[in-house]
Amino acid sequence: MTEKLKLSKRVASILVVSILILTLSFFSFSKAVIAQEDINLSIFGSPLPENMFSGEKPDRAKIDLGRELYYEKRLSKNADISCNSCHQLDNYGVDNLPTSPGHKGQLGTRNSPSVYNAAAHIAQFWDGRAEDVEQQALGPILNPGEMAMPSEEKVLEVLKSMPEYVAAFQEAFPDESNPLKYENIGKAIGAFERELVTPAPFDKYLAGDTSALTSQQKQGLKVFTETGCIACHNGTYVGGGMYQKVGLVEDWPTQKDRGRYEVTHQDSDRMIFKVPSLRNVAMTAPYFHDGQAKNLARAVEWMGKYQLGKDLSQEETSAIVAFLDSLTGEIPTNYIEEPKLPETTDKTPLPDPN
Ligand code: HEC
Ligand code: HEC
Repeated sequence: MTEKLKLSKRVASILVVSILILTLSFFSFSKAVIAQEDINLSIFGSPLPENMFSGEKPDRAKIDLGRELYYEKRLSKNADISCNSCHQLDNYGVDNLPTSPGHKGQLGTRNSPSVYNAAAHIAQFWDGRAEDVEQQALGPILNPGEMAMPSEEKVLEVLKSMPEYVAAFQEAFPDESNPLKYENIGKAIGAFERELVTPAPFDKYLAGDTSALTSQQKQGLKVFTETGCIACHNGTYVGGGMYQKVGLVEDWPTQKDRGRYEVTHQDSDRMIFKVPSLRNVAMTAPYFHDGQAKNLARAVEWMGKYQLGKDLSQEETSAIVAFLDSLTGEIPTNYIEEPKLPETTDKTPLPDPN
């Protein structure tokens, strides 16, 4: 064989090998891209709807009344606490405290969840003890540790003392002979809450816009899906759709609050909680029913360990956290604007600090 021939043979084999490497790397690269875009999104269902009414949207009058009542501090014993004190609408519906101060600064035992996107959950509260937002809203007003009003009658006395409220209830419940009744407070607040939705980049992604998530967020979605978080945090709300045991694989470090057991007193309900929605979760620290996890990375690590028996690597945790950032939505600034509330009259009961 001549030197020239040897050389061209070597060139040829180098060429073949490089082409092979190139093809392979192109193939695996495109495979990686496809895998990211190919995550089965059907587990999340459809993007966030415009509102969470189960039937027809009610009249503006009912929603407007609900907004006033949501901000109404005179629905509390000392006229100093409203729904918005613990569920601040300009702050993703939370107060960022482990537990919230109620009447006379008393601290509750559970973390305040967000009111955004809540109306669509399977039920309300960490333990699901209220069926819907309409029923839920009636609880805190009379709860001695929260707004602490002594009775339904007292609440109605406050509202009836202001002619604007009497008129607003008439307008909101036009077919009723006695529109200003306790139950209707819940119906109005509930109607207002059913439009508290926060569309996020993840919704654009669900709708088919693959550029709505960064590549790290897509990676995080993949880890979130593949490690099994989606077994519980799924659907449009990425949670909120079922009850599950907290500490499924390993006992949860705190067992003081036993979740649904406190409501049903059935052994099978020990440590069963509603799976929370993860929408806006990056903005709603601290985490878990007692607010014991200060930051999201820690909450994610705990979930891996206690729910799935997996020690997530730092990289996996950061990717999941990045994905969860894509669930941070837009606050409906105009919709939540605090309305001018009716003036107190000489018939309005005075605040009671005791
Ligand atoms: C003192 C603080 C405080 C006040 C005031 C308050 N809440 Fe809450 N809210 C909480 C806490 C704490 C929970 C969780 C309690 C539980 O699960 O047992 C909660 C739960 C909820 C939930 C359930 C959300 C979910 O994901 O399950 C909704 C909705 C809600 N509150 C709306 C309201 C409305 C409406 C008002 C006013 C009528 C109100 N809250 C007043 C602290 C407060
Ligand atoms: C077996 C069901 C289940 C699995 C699997 C699961 N979770 Fe959870 N998750 C829950 C329950 C139940 C809670 C409420 C726990 C509590 O507060 O006591 C929760 C709470 C959370 C919270 C706190 C939310 C808040 O508002 O306080 C985050 C964040 C979270 N999960 C993320 C994840 C991630 C990430 C994964 C996967 C690594 C995961 N979860 C896997 C059931 C599950």
